[in-house]
Amino acid sequence: MAERWTPDSWRKKPIQQVPEYPDRQALDDVEKQLATFPPLVFAGEARNLKKQLARVAQGQAFLLQGGDCAESFAEHGANNIRDFFRVFLQMAIVLTYAGASPVVKIGRIAGQFAKPRSSPTEKRDGIELPSYRGDIINDVAFTPEARTPDPRRQMDAYRQSAATLNLLRAFSKGGYASVENVHQWMLQSVSGSPQSKLYADLADRVSGALDFMRACGLDLAVDSTLGTTDFFTSHEALLLGFEQALTRIDSTTGDWYATSGHMVWIGDRTRQLDHAHVEYARGIKNPLGLKCGPSSKPDDLLRLIDVLNPDNEPGRLTLIVRMGADKVGDNLPPLLRAVKREGRSVVWSCDPMHGNTITSASGYKTRPFDLILKEVRSFFAVHQAEATHAGGVHLEMTGQNVTECTGGARAISDADLNDRYHTVCDPRLNADQAIDLAFLLADLLRKERAAVTQPMPAAAGL
Ligand code: PEP
Ligand code: CO
Repeated sequence: MAERWTPDSWRKKPIQQVPEYPDRQALDDVEKQLATFPPLVFAGEARNLKKQLARVAQGQAFLLQGGDCAESFAEHGANNIRDFFRVFLQMAIVLTYAGASPVVKIGRIAGQFAKPRSSPTEKRDGIELPSYRGDIINDVAFTPEARTPDPRRQMDAYRQSAATLNLLRAFSKGGYASVENVHQWMLQSVSGSPQSKLYADLADRVSGALDFMRACGLDLAVDSTLGTTDFFTSHEALLLGFEQALTRIDSTTGDWYATSGHMVWIGDRTRQLDHAHVEYARGIKNPLGLKCGPSSKPDDLLRLIDVLNPDNEPGRLTLIVRMGADKVGDNLPPLLRAVKREGRSVVWSCDPMHGNTITSASGYKTRPFDLILKEVRSFFAVHQAEATHAGGVHLEMTGQNVTECTGGARAISDADLNDRYHTVCDPRLNADQAIDLAFLLADLLRKERAAVTQPMPAAAGL
């Protein structure tokens, strides 16, 4: 029998990755105040996402999840959000067209602030300070004041998330995301690149199909399917005091939901079965993600699935595999087989970012684009060999023309990293690289579709 769950039952469990707030009273006050604030998302929206993810689990749709490694207060602005959303829509249409199936769209946005760190402190020139843990906790500047966790930052993160969500809702429902705008989503910064030519060709084909459907009587002003899109938010549920304050009962079902985002995930460093993060996640009804890194073992994974998805509900659990390009070929098949053998319904998603981080010769944390592509290819190859659905990807990306990951069509070199290296945490794909990756995924989806489509019997006389 599972112990009784409450939004604060995680507080009795061992916990990793907790910031040390010097002023406990101030932290309590902030959490109390946050608990009175309006929810950022609604339970019905989270249920809708779960339904869409259930289709992914059943092999009938593809998941695109991506955004910043860590959102920052300094980079918050309308242009950044718009450019991210545009690139995301471009990728989604490339994938929808290739896969001829729906693409479920989830941003790492409007709440992706708290960061797990490999070390609690950072040393520079003999000075040791607390590590930067994300703007919701402390500031990236290397001074004792900046690095001291400050609970008031949680209020700022809440407000930034609300403003971001407001704009995303307007973009996704207010006409901007209409497929009629497929040409306008192209970013200035990308035009002239090889991807932009591929994208423009695809946009022409989409427009041609729309013209045809209009001629057949489709009225886009009346049919909202093509004029709007569903766009969901997600983040790592790491800072549990904040999450608890935004955990609310849904009045229509009586169930508890995290209202800080539609989907939340458990990170690779906080997925211990008997610890606080798993305890918190098991009691909320949102769709959940679980990162699976190189140390994930089949038996542990099955136990986690038992706790996080005891009713085997399709769409409830997305396994986000982040092994590294050289490990996924060996590490993923035993996990896939165990899950399949036990008849567990999950979404398998590929995070080709977190297992492929290296330090460049110039000292930057970077990711070679080739390794990212290699992990994605291997992920699809394993699924093809095991006859399971490569359900989605989980990316760190931005709409800006940054130089954080090396390689790609514009061949960013080590020496270029210094030009526009803006991330406060992990290196992100820039707009070019993200669209490049979408076209590679499109090829892989086409192949998967060809492999599962039964050959049509030859029609007599044709
Ligand atoms: C992340 O997604 O930014 C992250 C820290 O991932 P992981 O938990 O897989 O290391
Ligand atoms: Co990251």
